[in-house]
Amino acid sequence: MCGIFGMIGQNAVENTCRALKYLEYRGYDSAGTAYKTDGSLNIVKTVGRVEKLTEIMPETNGCNLSIGHTRWATHGKVCQENAHPFYSYGKKFAIVHNGIIENHVNLKYKLNSIGVKFLSETDSEAVAHLLEKNYSDSVFDSVLLTANELEGAFAVVATNTYDDSLYALKNKSPLVVGIADTGVYFCSDIRCISHFANKVAVVPDKTIAVATRNSVMFYGFDGNPVSVKFFTADTAQETETVDGDYMLKEILEIPDKIRQAKQGYIKSGGLNLPSKTVHRLKRIYLIGCGTAYNSGLEVAAVARKLLGIDVIPVIASEFIYDSYPVDSYTLAFLISQSGETADTIRAAERVNSLGGFTYAVTNTANSSLSFTSSVTKNIYADAEYAVASTKAYNCQLVTLTLLFADLAYLKGSIDEQTRNKIFDSIDVLPSAVDKVLEDSYQISRIAEEVKDSSAVFFIGRTADYPTAAEGSLKLKEISYIHSEAYPAGELKHGTLALMEKGVTVVAIACDSAQIDKMSLSIAEVAARGARVIAVSPYNFDNAALVKVPVVNKLLYGILSVVPLQLLAYYVAKRLGRDIDKPRNLAKSVTVE
Ligand code: G6P
Repeated sequence: MCGIFGMIGQNAVENTCRALKYLEYRGYDSAGTAYKTDGSLNIVKTVGRVEKLTEIMPETNGCNLSIGHTRWATHGKVCQENAHPFYSYGKKFAIVHNGIIENHVNLKYKLNSIGVKFLSETDSEAVAHLLEKNYSDSVFDSVLLTANELEGAFAVVATNTYDDSLYALKNKSPLVVGIADTGVYFCSDIRCISHFANKVAVVPDKTIAVATRNSVMFYGFDGNPVSVKFFTADTAQETETVDGDYMLKEILEIPDKIRQAKQGYIKSGGLNLPSKTVHRLKRIYLIGCGTAYNSGLEVAAVARKLLGIDVIPVIASEFIYDSYPVDSYTLAFLISQSGETADTIRAAERVNSLGGFTYAVTNTANSSLSFTSSVTKNIYADAEYAVASTKAYNCQLVTLTLLFADLAYLKGSIDEQTRNKIFDSIDVLPSAVDKVLEDSYQISRIAEEVKDSSAVFFIGRTADYPTAAEGSLKLKEISYIHSEAYPAGELKHGTLALMEKGVTVVAIACDSAQIDKMSLSIAEVAARGARVIAVSPYNFDNAALVKVPVVNKLLYGILSVVPLQLLAYYVAKRLGRDIDKPRNLAKSVTVE
């Protein structure tokens, strides 16, 4: 379940397939569409990508009502039966769903007991059957009854044979609506919908939306009308097509994007935090998932050096349910490339509900995360398409480093000169990254040896450890080689047992204060037969060196991750992996 779309208007089926391409970052296990012709509902769906769906779509000329889905499997394996949309048992309704219906087992049990047979293993199918079961003489009443029976997170778009309206039900999962001369549209995100309509609105939780060809009405789950504010969104840019892999293209863009991130930060007004919040600040969280979490981990090491208060990196899915304290003295940076990751949005909601201040650091203005946060700062990395995030990580680090330099200055823990020095040091990074990129051939050669490793461990100390974590994540995401990251000093407490011939250790050693200790760790793993690659400005015995230029010590994370991104890319390429869309993953996971 992941990307949903629905429309009433011109060329509905063609536009639905087009929209699903934009939504594919939310999942690409299967794709499908339902549309209405001569009063009947038709479903076409397939395992695999939207491209495959488009190839098998029949001619649907004149069809003006369609819904569509692109899936990242949660309930049930990846197969045709579990692909959306789903018919209700009498084919009177068809639905697509993003979210998780938490009471689906009970609903299924009740529906089974009145003879309804399920054809899939999904939680979503229950919604279609409920709609038909609840129908007596009004589709709206059936939708209302159904909405009140569902528990969990859901954004559902439903079509039916009784009338020509499109219905949507929304609670907790993102749903936006757009209106244009060409029709009315429902969709999981604003970036996709703004390819079709500029007048857009975010559908609030516990809302039902009913669309006809020219209008849309909103109702609460109590059946009463609610008003929803529309605004004008910028028209989205078309997806740039490239020869080769987006991931490599995006790595090569890093020098430019670093410049852009700094300029964007300054042009957009810098920190933009109310001075009251700055001065009463006692605790800062850096919250995210995957690569976004790693950027929080990295910048926390920098922030600890600059500020005299707690700066705590937390994985979003842990933050939601653990008892991390939040009060009006708390500032939470929510880091997310897409701004659509469900765990990160839920974490923001938790901070808001406890009176903390939410600050989104994202690559997607008008994302669901922006609407949940008090302040949004763009990282200006431009669209990123490869599932494995690269340039967004570097831009997150640039933006967060500047944010912390400003914050530390405003709080009085660094002086203006130190703050300015950090800002100026960023300017050296693009040419330093260029130097690393010029040595790609060397990394590509090393990849040839690494590709047959039984496991790859990434190690580092202090601010080099988060870089190790990101290098390891990149490698496992796209090469499927078992990989882990460890603080180098922790190796001897267990993981050293795994060192043997066939294992590769990548040692990130940029912190000059830790060089002696890193030499020791390298010697220890090499003595046990591991092949060692050092990423460092310095030479080590027993290790092949990938040299990185010397830069400001607070900024190594932005630079030393680049050889690791390249290493992951070249290893995966040599193993023949699907670089931009690795197995089992999605660019943004929109369910908890
Ligand atoms: C998914 C992707 C990761 C990404 C993470 C967070 O797990 O596969 O590459 O880092 O989501 O995404 P976000 O859009 O919130 O940064």
